[in-house]
Amino acid sequence: MIDLNELHQYFILQHLGEGDVAVDFTMGNGGDTLFLSKTVGESGRVYAFDIQPEALVSTKAHLEANGAPENYTLICASHHLLADYVKEPIKAGMFNLGYLPRSGKKHITTMRETTMPAVEAALAALAPDGVLLIAIYPGHEEGALEGEMIEEYLSAISRFKLCCSKFRIINSPAAPYFFLVEKK
Ligand SMILES: C[S@@+](CC[C@H](N)C(=O)[O-])C[C@H]1O[C@@H](n2cnc3c(N)ncnc32)[C@H](O)[C@@H]1O
Repeated sequence: MIDLNELHQYFILQHLGEGDVAVDFTMGNGGDTLFLSKTVGESGRVYAFDIQPEALVSTKAHLEANGAPENYTLICASHHLLADYVKEPIKAGMFNLGYLPRSGKKHITTMRETTMPAVEAALAALAPDGVLLIAIYPGHEEGALEGEMIEEYLSAISRFKLCCSKFRIINSPAAPYFFLVEKK
């Protein structure tokens, strides 16, 4: 069976390496932050955003427990404010939209009003040969609508500027899927 997380990492690794700058736009418990931190190493930098202070606490613990290099900045703010915090071009960005599973706080979820400007900010900051991965959870209403909104937006971008793809299991409509944006 397809492991979506492995696929995410495979695609990110085609673009991201030692010394690069990466952003985790939805830190949660830090699974993606740890992957990015280890990939860019001591000489790179990872910025991670979440609006829940608890996410920063659990991510810091996760990074420390798993031997991440001290190359990360954890930011308690909405991801659409990227430009206020990150001044350099980014080589990779990961969005894992939705709410934190098992947190009991399903109401704290990403929302179209801030997701769209966050994706726009990420695209504006993307370095040449950069990559953006946006994971969608269509099993809840806001997640399904986020997916539709982002697909409409990415479909309208010139293929001469960005290569925009969608990866979806076609016989499981509620299963997560993702968009990949690669800069030429
Ligand atoms: C599906 S979880 C992310 C899981 C995470 N990548 C991990 O590995 O644990 C989505 C996260 O997005 C956060 N979030 C919701 N709205 C946000 C916003 N406007 N800016 C940044 N993070 C947000 C939620 O608090 C939640 O922790």
